[in-house]
Amino acid sequence: MSAPPPLGIDFGGTGIKGAPVDLATGDFAAERVRIPTPRPATPDAVAAVFVELLAAFPEATGPVGVTVPGIVRHGVVGSAANIDDSWIGVDADALFSEATGREVHVVNDADAAGLAEVRYGAAAGHRGLVILTTLGTGIGSAMVHDGVLVPNSELGHLLVDGAIGGSTGAAVAEERASNRARETEELSMEEWAARLTDYYRHLERLFSPDLFLVGGGISKRSEEFLPLLDIDTEIIPATLRNKAGVVGAALHAVHAAG
Ligand code: BGC
Repeated sequence: MSAPPPLGIDFGGTGIKGAPVDLATGDFAAERVRIPTPRPATPDAVAAVFVELLAAFPEATGPVGVTVPGIVRHGVVGSAANIDDSWIGVDADALFSEATGREVHVVNDADAAGLAEVRYGAAAGHRGLVILTTLGTGIGSAMVHDGVLVPNSELGHLLVDGAIGGSTGAAVAEERASNRARETEELSMEEWAARLTDYYRHLERLFSPDLFLVGGGISKRSEEFLPLLDIDTEIIPATLRNKAGVVGAALHAVHAAG
């Protein structure tokens, strides 16, 4: 008998989405379920949603992976840039495992997307250093070298010291170049692309990657801004779109469960 499929859960700002994942193909093994994110999205409130979500998939008895939009070290959440502060210091693996009675492993949201894209998506089979950036409310990042993830790279939090879009003084990269910055400052695609060029050039200088992948909801409009970037490294849109979190979380769960 083959192992029961793992279940991936993508914990986002507006929705919590889950599905069992067929690791042979990277596809969902059953139709995805989405439950609105509770407000406030405290760890306990979110755990209650996971219990509800798991009940929808009685056959998916394998390990459970969960994305978290913050630093995660050995199951403990270390930062909360865009989520409730009460997450900081929480052993989320322990909390969710206890709440659900299942083996649960959390992973940074961008790291999950990076794992999924390198295994099944835009960077499948790519060797060398692949850097995924997700352009959303913040900027998430995943650094994957020859298929191996270096977790918690947090490249959205680089201090860019005036180097993005002519800002003066030190600035956190995601505050200048995320999709939220584009929306709130009502930047044109050209203006935003100029900031992204500064940002990716900074990453090029630091890491000399072989490939950049661009994820996040705005990546479906990549033809409107990627051609405007002036950088040396190949840069392409991620392809798994809103499946990446769920699939990557499931991959992480299986890996972490050993
Ligand atoms: C957080 C990252 C996260 C990213 C995307 C950033 O603000 O620090 O951990 O991956 O947002 O959600």
